[in-house]
Amino acid sequence: MPHYITLATCSLNQWALDFEGNRDRIVESIIEAKKKHAALRVGPELEVPGYGCLDHFLENDTYLHSWEMYATIISNEATKGILLDIGMPIIHKNRRYNCRILSYDGKILLIRPKIFLANDGNYREMRFFTPWLKTQYVEEYVLPRLIQKITGQVTVDFGDAVISTLDTCIGAETCEELFTPQAPHVSMSLDGIEIITNSSGSHHELRKLDLRMAMITEATRKCGGIYLYSNQKGCDGDRLYYDGCALIVVNGKVLAQGAQFSLDDVEVITATVDLEDVRAYRALISHGLQSRSSPVYKRIHVPVELSPDHLNFNLNIKPSVPREIHYYKPEEEIAYGPACWLWDYVRRCKGSGYFIPLSGGIDSCATSVIVHSMCRLVVQACNDNNAQVIKDVQMVANMPEGWIPKTPQEVANKIFHTCYMGTKNSSIETRTRAKDLAEKIGSYHVDLNMDTLVSAMVSLFEVTTGKKPIFKIFGGSNIENLALQNIQARLRMVLAYLFAQLLPWTRGRTNTGGLLVLGSANVDEQLRGYLTKYDCSSADVNPIGGISKTDLIRFIIWSEDAFDLPVLREFVDATPTAELEPITDTHVQSDEADMGFTYEELSVLGRLRKVDKCGPYSMFVKLLHIWNDKKTPEQTADKVKKFFWFYSINRHKQTVSTPSYHAEQYSPDDNRFDLRPFLIDPRFNWARTKIDDVVSKLQSNETIDTMTVD
Ligand SMILES: *[C@@H]1O[C@H](CO)[C@@H](O)[C@H](O)[C@H]1NC(C)=O
Ligand SMILES: *[C@@H]1O[C@H](CO)[C@@H](O)[C@H](O)[C@H]1NC(C)=O
Ligand SMILES: *[C@@H]1O[C@H](CO)[C@@H](O)[C@H](O)[C@H]1NC(C)=O
Repeated sequence: MPHYITLATCSLNQWALDFEGNRDRIVESIIEAKKKHAALRVGPELEVPGYGCLDHFLENDTYLHSWEMYATIISNEATKGILLDIGMPIIHKNRRYNCRILSYDGKILLIRPKIFLANDGNYREMRFFTPWLKTQYVEEYVLPRLIQKITGQVTVDFGDAVISTLDTCIGAETCEELFTPQAPHVSMSLDGIEIITNSSGSHHELRKLDLRMAMITEATRKCGGIYLYSNQKGCDGDRLYYDGCALIVVNGKVLAQGAQFSLDDVEVITATVDLEDVRAYRALISHGLQSRSSPVYKRIHVPVELSPDHLNFNLNIKPSVPREIHYYKPEEEIAYGPACWLWDYVRRCKGSGYFIPLSGGIDSCATSVIVHSMCRLVVQACNDNNAQVIKDVQMVANMPEGWIPKTPQEVANKIFHTCYMGTKNSSIETRTRAKDLAEKIGSYHVDLNMDTLVSAMVSLFEVTTGKKPIFKIFGGSNIENLALQNIQARLRMVLAYLFAQLLPWTRGRTNTGGLLVLGSANVDEQLRGYLTKYDCSSADVNPIGGISKTDLIRFIIWSEDAFDLPVLREFVDATPTAELEPITDTHVQSDEADMGFTYEELSVLGRLRKVDKCGPYSMFVKLLHIWNDKKTPEQTADKVKKFFWFYSINRHKQTVSTPSYHAEQYSPDDNRFDLRPFLIDPRFNWARTKIDDVVSKLQSNETIDTMTVD
C-alpha cells in the first residue's frame, strides 16, 4: 500500500533585521504550503532575522526579536495543522546557536542547533555561533517566558534529535553540514530517518550550482530518503545574492525545483511522494548491516499522521514525477543574478533608480544591460500580476497606483539614467555607441563635454605651482601622463554624483531621493588595480565587480540575441580603451597593452592566487606547467613578478572598492571574502630569488624537479 505524503520547502527573499517583513513572508509561505496540502513546511536558514545579520548576531536584540516574531507565527491560527521547520538563532546557556525549531499546532517539538558551522569564503558563522558538535546529544532548554505563555511548555529538547510521527521520521541538517565529509544525513538514514530537511543560506557564484545540486542529490542516492532543501534568495543587505533553488529529492531523483533567479519574495514548492519508495530503496543488505553499528537518535514523538490512510485511496492525489535540474548558462547567470540583486537594492533603499556613466566600453555597457535585464524581469513580474513588484516599481518610479509598465524601456525611462562624459579627445565611435545603447534600452540619456572642467583644473594647478603637466605623447613624463588622466577620471565621479542627485529633480521629481550611482570596474581590473582610486569606479554599488572581462564579453554576445540588442555587436568588436589619453594618428590607448596582461591571463593568475592559494613562488611553479607551450620560464617568471607587483602596489584601491555583487571565486573583495593586509612589499624579494634560481637552472638545461628546489 502506498503512503503518500505532500511536503513543502521554500525560498524566501529575507532581509537582515527586517523582522516583520521576514515574519510575514514566513507566514505567507506556511499558508501557501497548506493550500497545497503539504504536511511539512521547511524554511531557509536563520529565516526569522535573515541569514546575513553578521555581527548583529552578537546583539541580544536579534535573539529577542526573533522570539517575538516566532511567537506571533506559531500563535497564528493560519499556521496550525502543519509541521513547521523554522530557522532562527537561539541563546542557550549563554551561548549562541544557529537553530531549527520544529513545531506542530503551536507546540515546540524540538530545537535543533547546527552541528557544523560554515566558516570559510564569505561565511564566518563561528564568529557569532557555537557549533553544537555533540551528535545525538540532547539537553533541556528553558523557553523564554513569552513563549511559555503561548505554548504552555516550560522546557523543550535542545540538541541533535529527530521527530517521529505516527507514520515516519524527520531529521534536520543545516547548510554546511551537507558539505562536510561526515554529513548527518548518513547516520540519520541508517537510523531510519526517512525525511531529511536541509535549510541553507547559500549564495550565487558563477558555475557553482551544479556542485550544490550534486551534493543534495547524492545525499539520498546513496542512502535513500526524502531530502528537502530550502534556501534564502535575494539580496539580504550585503554583497551576496542568495540563489534560491529549493529542491525536493527522493532517492537521488529530483521531484521539484524552485527558481534560482526571480523577483518573487515567497516561493513554495511541493511534491507528493510515496514513503514506501524510500523503504523499498533502502531494502539493501549492506544498509541493514551498517545500520546495526550506526548511532541511534533520540526520537521526539508527535501523535500525528502526515500521510493519513484516506489520502492513499484518494485518486486526486498525484505522486510527483522526476524531472531534470535546470541549470543556467554562465551568461544567463550574469544576466539574472545581478539584476535581481540590483532590484532588491533599489527597492529596499527606496532609491529613485540608477545612474551610470556610460563610456562606450564593454564594462559600463554590460552593467547597463544588466539593468535592462532587471527592467525586463520587473515587466515580466508585472505581467504575472506580482503585487509586490507592482507596488515597488510604482514607488521607485514615483508613479501613481494604476501605472503598470508594459515594456522594459518604459521602466528604464523612469528609473535608469545614463550619461556620456566626453572630452574633445573622446572618439565619435564611443559617443555614438553610448547614445545608441541608451536609446535601445530606453534609459534617460545625457551627453556632455567636460573639457572646460579639465582645463580649469590644469590651469589652477599651473597658476599655483607654475608648472604645466603634459601628456607623454607630447613629451611629458609618466607622472604627468597619469596625473592628466586621473583628473578626467576623478572629475567624472564628481559629475556622476551631481547628476545622480539632481537629474530626478530636473525631471520634476522634487520630493524623492537621488539615484544610486553604479560602478562598473570588472574583477580583473580590480585585481590588477587598473583603475583610478576615487574615479568612476567609486560608486554606490557595482553589479559586475566580481565578474571577469572574458565572462562579460560572453554575456554581451549572448545578450545581443537574447535581448534583441544588435547594437551590442559594436561594443564587442571595439578595442577596450580608457580614452583618457589623446588619440593621434599613431596612438590609441589599449587596456591590455596598458595593463601588461591580457584579461585571460589575469583570470588565470587571479584564480591561482585566490582559489589555489598560491604565493608568487608556487604560482610560478604551477604556471611553468600550465603555460609550458606558451611562454618560456623567463616570460612566465616575469608575468608572475609583475602580477604580484601590481597587485601589491594597488592593494590600497581594493580597500575602498565599491561594494560589488559577489560572483567569482577569485574576487579580491576585501570586505568579506578576501582578507589581506594592504601594505605589502611588492618586490617579494625572497620569492623572486627562488624564482630566478629556477629560471636560471632551467636555462642552463639542468634537469630539476621544481618541487624540490629550495
Ligand atoms: C535577551 O534575549 C532573550 C531572548 O533570547 C530575552 O529573553 C531577554 O529578555 C533579552 N534580554 C534583554 C536585556 O533584553
Ligand atoms: C544542505 O545543503 C547545503 C547546500 O547549500 C550543503 O552545503 C549542506 O551540506 C547541506 N546540509 C547537509 C546537512 O547536508
Ligand atoms: C585632449 O587632447 C589635447 C591634445 O590633443 C590635450 O591638450 C587636452 O588636454 C586633452 N583634453 C583633455 C580634456 O584631456
